[in-house]
Amino acid sequence: MRYPVTTKVCVALPDAPADLVIMAATPEIAVPRSVLFVCLGNICRSPLAEGVFRSLVEERGDGDLFTIDSAGTGAWHIGNPPDPRSIDVAAKYGIDLSAQRARQVVPEDFTRFDTIVAMDAANLAALGSGKNAGTARIRLLLDDPPKDVPDPYFGGPDGFEHVCRLVRSGCERFLETFDRP
Ligand code: 4NP
Repeated sequence: MRYPVTTKVCVALPDAPADLVIMAATPEIAVPRSVLFVCLGNICRSPLAEGVFRSLVEERGDGDLFTIDSAGTGAWHIGNPPDPRSIDVAAKYGIDLSAQRARQVVPEDFTRFDTIVAMDAANLAALGSGKNAGTARIRLLLDDPPKDVPDPYFGGPDGFEHVCRLVRSGCERFLETFDRP
């Protein structure tokens, strides 16, 4: 499937820092199996989702077919590795997050990625619900029924276990939405 070249857009993100204003998507064509997971800081939930989804795709033997990345709507942790509690909980399931580095959502993401997957309703709102935001489909990870993957940052390790289970079941259901080649 080919995706249309986008026109210029300007998206103001309601709850985002003032410097995070999405300007002018560049004309690009998204690869159909390209997925960007988004949370607030890109150090807890979306790195887990990136790692879990990649491992599910690789288990399926489809690693070469997908582009998978994660980003945050906020800028506080740019360049940092995932939170050690996310690294630890992923490691328990044989998933290594340690090479990931946080980055912020950039305008090109709305055209580079076929699907942008938000961890919670606030992330979804910050992404502008996709209305004027390039070609990417924007959705919640847990969307049937809609439910947040809660922010575990200010809690204890139990919160990360809970998040990991939610992320895993959400990623399994999300992966089922992709046709086998
Ligand atoms: P995340 O969690 O959005 O799942 O990465 C957070 C990480 C950091 C902060 C908030 C949430 N923070 O306020 O720095």
